[in-house]
Amino acid sequence: MGRHAVAPAEPRLLIVGVGLIGGSLAAALRAAGFAGEILACDPDAEEITRGVEMGLIERGGTRLSPLLEGVSLVVLAVPVLAMRQVMEEVAAGRERAADDLVITDVGSTKGTIREAAAGVFGRMPANLVLGHPIAGSEKSGVAAADSKLYARHKVILTPEPDTDPEALARVRRLWEATGAEVLEMAVDRHDQVLARTSHLPHLLAFSLVDTLARQDERLEIFRYAAGGFRDFTRIAGSDPVMWRDIFVANRDAVLAALDDFEAGVARLRRAVERGDTDAMLATFDRASHARHYFDSLLNQTSYQAEYQMQAQDRLRYRVRPGGGVTGRIRVPGDKSISHRSIMLGALADGVTEVTGFLEGEDSLATLQAFREMGVAIEGPHQGRVTVHGVGLHGLKAPAGPLYVGNAGTAMRLFAGLLAGQAFDTELTGDASLTKRPMGRVADPLREMGAVIETAEGGRPPLKIRGGQRLRGITYDMPMASAQVKSCLLLAGLYAEGETRVREPAPTRDHTERMLNGFGYEVSREGDTCWLQGGGRLAAAPIDVPSDISSATFFLVAAAITPGADLVLEHVGINPTRIGVINILKAMGADLRLENEREVGGEPVADLHIRYAPLKGIDIPVDQVPLAIDEFPALFVAAANAEGTTRLREAAELRVKESDRLKAMADGLAVLGVENRLYDDGIDIVGHGGEGPSYGGGRIDSLGDHRIAMAFTVAALRASDEIVIDDCANVATSFPGFVALARRVGLSLEEEREAS
Ligand code: S3P
Repeated sequence: MGRHAVAPAEPRLLIVGVGLIGGSLAAALRAAGFAGEILACDPDAEEITRGVEMGLIERGGTRLSPLLEGVSLVVLAVPVLAMRQVMEEVAAGRERAADDLVITDVGSTKGTIREAAAGVFGRMPANLVLGHPIAGSEKSGVAAADSKLYARHKVILTPEPDTDPEALARVRRLWEATGAEVLEMAVDRHDQVLARTSHLPHLLAFSLVDTLARQDERLEIFRYAAGGFRDFTRIAGSDPVMWRDIFVANRDAVLAALDDFEAGVARLRRAVERGDTDAMLATFDRASHARHYFDSLLNQTSYQAEYQMQAQDRLRYRVRPGGGVTGRIRVPGDKSISHRSIMLGALADGVTEVTGFLEGEDSLATLQAFREMGVAIEGPHQGRVTVHGVGLHGLKAPAGPLYVGNAGTAMRLFAGLLAGQAFDTELTGDASLTKRPMGRVADPLREMGAVIETAEGGRPPLKIRGGQRLRGITYDMPMASAQVKSCLLLAGLYAEGETRVREPAPTRDHTERMLNGFGYEVSREGDTCWLQGGGRLAAAPIDVPSDISSATFFLVAAAITPGADLVLEHVGINPTRIGVINILKAMGADLRLENEREVGGEPVADLHIRYAPLKGIDIPVDQVPLAIDEFPALFVAAANAEGTTRLREAAELRVKESDRLKAMADGLAVLGVENRLYDDGIDIVGHGGEGPSYGGGRIDSLGDHRIAMAFTVAALRASDEIVIDDCANVATSFPGFVALARRVGLSLEEEREAS
């Protein structure tokens, strides 16, 4: 039963028709502690006797009228075409029932039942609330009654404008007591929705089985029918009379659904006939992804709940001390560019082909969110994604909140582009994201005319009201944030006039580069960039380079490990991202850029690094925004460098996936590395030399992917094993990290523990 459900206070309930549906309602109410009397009417006297024996009903009979005495609520649970006659009997015996009698039903179609009611009572009575529990089973009869049949299932009520609100509330309470989730919908909509989701599939299943059975009268082929046939046709075993009634009752909506289906089959037929593999793949891909998404809905878990369930499975790394770092590897695609490739691809006119896409949970959350807004996206298949752009104004309202998991970039960039849409949206994320500040985007967006609600303290969820007129603004960013800049530029696409953003220090410029690559002019002068609203984006291919932020863990691994010699291929070296290269070089790392080239508007190179002793440095403040995601790993480099490394003006690290200054300070202290924390930075006293630099221990990554990977690498120079808790989020940015780490010479195990 639902947590907040209270057993309804009906003194006497009459269920007309005690089959599976009516019997299960009685069973569920009993289980929920319903204190009133339950009576039943059924043409089959044996069903009544069985119901009494099972303790589901007090008493009952085969004639309706005498049973109405003192009844406060009648539930009509008979087949659809029998409703009219039963309603006539209720109308005839109305005066015996309680004054505040409420009537409801459970029929699978609503239009014809409403028509029948209007015929019987003269008009739709205010105390008649039509309903439909979306639950059932192949079994029938009261013997199959199941007190849990409705738990976590949906019940659709279809009230009319003049339905008595008190009657509606009582029917709602009745179903909520069974543990069901109660929704309201207009009658026509109900019939259309059910025609598509229930009636059409039943029709197809009946038809397929019948067609095959006729073609092979000895049913020879069915011997070979395996999973596909069985899965597709299970419902063809349902009750023929009940289904005949449904197709009579919901004729028009079923025919409309069948027309759409036939058009779809005809399209697919043409594709098969012509051998049009692209068309087939596009259809199957859309369907396959939609089906996976439905799966989580059908399992009564949202995409979000499913994701969180996986994340709850605690993943721990156990890393043995020592190991080598050699070889040539390619780390996965850049996270920032991957997010933007889907966003701009979706908003462009035309088809965007992406290669090198990061198949990590963060960028996949962005991809999924666009699918939920109606964008057809094929892939990812080994880093290839095809985005069928819908244009700047082609997104559709998603059915529910958009869940972006751990991805701050997704939430902040989405805030900008959703502020300009015609529809309302809500953005939610996981526990870590829910703690991160969103006022930094909500405040300037409001200045542009956006209407955005946040939770307390400017935290997620973000509720964004659509249909607003945005105006361009000139915004002086109080912090160096590429996410804030990109958010405002995306909102600027929808704004009147010019949107200008000034940054206090250079931040990653992938949004500007990609917009330019899509033919949308973004200008820059000094520390300010701007664009004009109201243009259009033209699709263009995107080759995503390897992520320098992921490469960093291996750069540091090689930099601290005597004998190391490693090449990282095809790494993005955008000038706004190379702080890690500059800082490692300043510390004395032997790091060379080879094979420099430009790919799709972004510079890339192979990074060749060999071990060389490191020394502690004062990190230049101008490098901080250029290495903002690399500090967890750089702190490990500092712990292995001769002397002290000092970092300041890096307070932004406190609002990343964790408070990275504190998380690293605590972890380093566990290993015995001397450090001192400041509000905006840290001092780390390194060890130097070629032996172990510190001990081992157990580290809490706080669910932050970069903390987990930094301490994995630290083990190369530890004297003892390092065990790192809460590592599942490594998959947000670096799927395959463990395999690559092993390949170059680290020694680590994954351990799973359900929490
Ligand atoms: C990112 C910007 C940075 C960075 C994040 C990705 C982006 O965040 O830390 O991992 O893709 O724009 P801030 O803009 O908050 O500095």
